[in-house]
Amino acid sequence: MTGKRIDGKAFAANVRGQVAEHVARLKAEHGITPGLAVVLVGEDPASQVYVRNKGKQTVEVGMNSVEHRLDASTSEAELLALIERLNADPAINGILVQLPLPGHLNSDLVINTIDPAKDVDGFHISNVGLLGTGQKSMVPCTPLGCLMLLRDHFGSLSGRSAVVLGRSNIVGKPMFNLLLRDSCTVTVAHSRTRDIEAVCRQADIVVAAVGRPEMVTGDWLKPGAVVIDVGINRVPAPELGEGRHKIVGDCEFESCAKVAGAITPVPGGVGPMTIACLLANTLTACCRENG
Ligand code: GUN
Repeated sequence: MTGKRIDGKAFAANVRGQVAEHVARLKAEHGITPGLAVVLVGEDPASQVYVRNKGKQTVEVGMNSVEHRLDASTSEAELLALIERLNADPAINGILVQLPLPGHLNSDLVINTIDPAKDVDGFHISNVGLLGTGQKSMVPCTPLGCLMLLRDHFGSLSGRSAVVLGRSNIVGKPMFNLLLRDSCTVTVAHSRTRDIEAVCRQADIVVAAVGRPEMVTGDWLKPGAVVIDVGINRVPAPELGEGRHKIVGDCEFESCAKVAGAITPVPGGVGPMTIACLLANTLTACCRENG
């Protein structure tokens, strides 16, 4: 069996199109333009690429994009003061502080200073608590994107067995909560899980978010399982020439695609969904704020 490729790129373009239509209506009917502020501290190359893409796509859907690029030596007090200013700014509906932050900054304190209503990443402790108790909250963008792809594929997720590989605050834990909320039977597996392959092999749904290139191979999967690969790993690719690199997921695509019922490619799977969901969250924040 050759698994179906889940086209996250096309799905994300569709989500962005819907957001753009809604933004145009808000503007025409209420004179409101949603605004997203992205804060980047330091010069991490991967973060710079993400922030540039976020800014570009924010503008493409008709929203205002504000970028604050701060020196790596920025003090915690300066960063917190900026967040307080953005919290108080009525033109800003969403605030995203790009992670990871330089080591001298307390990420928890920084994230928890963001107004929860503007926390479009869904990382504020009150949004985490709301999601964990099944209440309305801002939902982290990457797991939300994964959930949308899964719902589109299955319709209802109720009663399905799901394994989430990885227990991060950004993906693994919120993914667990979202799948549970959709009535899946969910197992979270991680680096200390015993016989992780066997755990994985029981699942109808596998969400891989471990950051280990091509860790999951076809023999880890139940035939027909649906695989959502969150990994974005840069690895050497000597086959492309000396010193060249390529991006691979946490799943070995070729062998997994032979066993899976459907699988997201990397790139072109989950990645584009993350920014699309960020824009959708910003629109939601704007609509909630304006009643
Ligand atoms: N760094 C990697 N992924 C993310 C994300 O989803 N949000 C933020 N703020 N930083 C990240």
